Amino acid sequence: MSEMKVAFITGANRGIGFETALQLAKQNVLVIIGARHLSDANAAAARIREQGLKAEALKFDAEESKDITSTFDYINKTYGKLDILVNNAGVLLDEEDASVEHKNNTVTSSLEMLKKTFEINFFSVVELTQKLLPLLMKSKAGRIVNVSSILGSLSLHANPQGGLYDSKYFCYDTSKAAMNSFTIHLAHALKDSSVKVNSAHPGWVQTQMGGASAMMSPADGAKTSVRLSLLENDGPSGKFFHLDKELPW
Ligand SMILES: NC(=O)c1ccc[n+]([C@@H]2O[C@H](COP(=O)([O-])OP(=O)(O)OC[C@H]3O[C@@H](n4cnc5c(N)ncnc54)[C@H](OP(=O)(O)O)[C@@H]3O)[C@@H](O)[C@H]2O)c1
Repeated sequence: MSEMKVAFITGANRGIGFETALQLAKQNVLVIIGARHLSDANAAAARIREQGLKAEALKFDAEESKDITSTFDYINKTYGKLDILVNNAGVLLDEEDASVEHKNNTVTSSLEMLKKTFEINFFSVVELTQKLLPLLMKSKAGRIVNVSSILGSLSLHANPQGGLYDSKYFCYDTSKAAMNSFTIHLAHALKDSSVKVNSAHPGWVQTQMGGASAMMSPADGAKTSVRLSLLENDGPSGKFFHLDKELPW
């Protein structure tokens, strides 16, 4: 069994996911890049290997259940364990909804958009995590990072003074709130194990999702995921962070 830590990062071909993989690889972690298209995964892994670091590529489409099975089979056969799982892949489909007004589409949002968002941002995260959990249990320090968003914070959304009160993307926000609930429930289920699970808010980051006006670079946006991936054994579990600041659920 390899002594090197092994990480699987979904949606790691670009944006925050790619930077997370690159920064973990710089910390001597062997990173497996998951991407919807194998060609994108291969290109991203090659960019990391060009720097003399260790990276591999896997096809992972969150809407394809068979990709979850093939991911488990590859990691099980090749390494027999997994140290870090970063559930990073995500979509914000609400912005494509022409009916979004005042950033609140709760009344008009289609069930189709809600179901697709939950499929990628929530159901696939649960299915992948449950499938890979036996491999994470074999690690000395298994870490699960659920890449959420401050927009998943129920307490901030409910508070007229909370700063997010008037930013409401119904499908995205509810999918990230569900992911946060998964973090809390899974951390409780794993409390007597060495596996830690936390939610990350990357910040507002310049990616395809975050847009050009965002405040943070992708490299800075990856820092919360990297920190939670490499938590010490006395680190937190079942919490929600941006960098080292704990956020309200
Ligand atoms: N950017 C921000 O300001 C911000 C703020 C808070 C939270 N976040 C969260 O951070 C994470 C990364 O976001 P980002 O800003 O880096 O977004 P991004 O640049 O749009 O990248 C999204 C990634 O998710 C992948 N993806 C989309 N649908 C997928 C599917 N069905 N199966 C597998 N992968 C899929 C994309 O793959 P393709 O290249 O194939 O499309 C891409 O790799 C997301 O979970 C997002 O919600 C971002």
